[in-house]
Amino acid sequence: MRPFEGKRVLLGVSGGIAAYKSAELVRLLVRAGAEVDVILTRSGSRFVGPTTFEGLTGRAVHSSLWDGGGAMAHLELGQAAGAIAVAPATAALLAKLAAGMAGDLLTATLLAAPRRALLAPAMNHRMLEHPATQRNLAALRGDGHTIIGPAYGELAEREVGWGRMVEPEVIFEHIGRELEPESRWRGRRVVVTAGPTREPIDPVRFLGNRSSGRMGYAIAAAAWRRGASVTLITGPTDVPVPPGIEDVKPVETAQEMCSALHASLDGAAALFMVAAVADFRPAEPDSQKIRRGDGMKQIIVEAVPDLLASVAGASCLKVAFAVEMGEGGLESARRKLEEKGAQMIVLNDPSEPGAGFEVETNRVTIVDASGEAEQLPLATKGEVADEILNRAERLLPGE
Ligand code: CTP
Repeated sequence: MRPFEGKRVLLGVSGGIAAYKSAELVRLLVRAGAEVDVILTRSGSRFVGPTTFEGLTGRAVHSSLWDGGGAMAHLELGQAAGAIAVAPATAALLAKLAAGMAGDLLTATLLAAPRRALLAPAMNHRMLEHPATQRNLAALRGDGHTIIGPAYGELAEREVGWGRMVEPEVIFEHIGRELEPESRWRGRRVVVTAGPTREPIDPVRFLGNRSSGRMGYAIAAAAWRRGASVTLITGPTDVPVPPGIEDVKPVETAQEMCSALHASLDGAAALFMVAAVADFRPAEPDSQKIRRGDGMKQIIVEAVPDLLASVAGASCLKVAFAVEMGEGGLESARRKLEEKGAQMIVLNDPSEPGAGFEVETNRVTIVDASGEAEQLPLATKGEVADEILNRAERLLPGE
């Protein structure tokens, strides 16, 4: 089933050059199954015509308080929508909304709507920096609207600066979070560790592992989409940080990850320990680059303390991830669950096709505290993350 099937989204498009990106946003929403109503302001229609949106949505575009849709369209459109977004939101639109002015269909609809909007500002950087715009943005946040962006980059007239509308994919993710049915994750804080750690041998070399960070990032994205605020403690990876996750703590070594973890757990509802933490590290890393000419050298390693076991006393739900290869994996996972004080462990065998490191898919088995094991089918890491969260949600401590 498509994720937004049966959901209605209201998109306001005001007059900025970024309006062409709104067509792409509509395409993403429609492809995900949403029914999209577009309100196009008069100045918005100077950038993209109504025919484009009608073609993409298969629905009439709304433009005026006085034509089509009936005189009460401004009440109905907002009532019906599971999420309301304005992209691009110009300085003028933000000013009118902040002041509560309802002179056209879009502002009247936003004012009459039972829910607050996601606003994606787009404007010249000097307009953005102006105290009036900053005042309006603060007021709109105070009123409960969510401001997404703006981003830094190329603006109209080949200027560069802050004021560029965020990409359609980012707005799409925010709309997804808005449409998500009520879940026990909403308003909770979730800590996710992801990626590998790097343990220095000397200033230019390290002991590492093949973790890509994808599974951890997928868990972080899924928790955020369900309404959680997410702290992502991440080892070095090339995976982009998912939209919405603002509390990102980049670390390199297991020791740094340990400190970040201990500093983050207070008040957290759940910890997903997805990181592939090093098991061993060079006991005495060299402060100078080791030279090849110096001949072969032994690297003495020492065990890295178990990070998860070190937070066993924390009251949050703890989910461990284990890499197990071959026979006896299930028994070993059950033992780790107990030793590390976790309530759930997710195990995968990277030697299986489509599972483990550096691939987009995964096949996992979930073991809970009763020792019960459940194997999930091969799926994308995003789908696996959703299944893991469905099961973890039942184990969340009460509020
Ligand atoms: N883990 C941890 N600290 C470590 C090593 C692992 O917190 N120093 C966590 C991992 O993030 C994961 C879980 O423990 O959630 C299981 O990791 P795994 O590497 O499978 O287990 P190990 O304890 O390293 O055991 P083994 O090497 O025997 O497989």
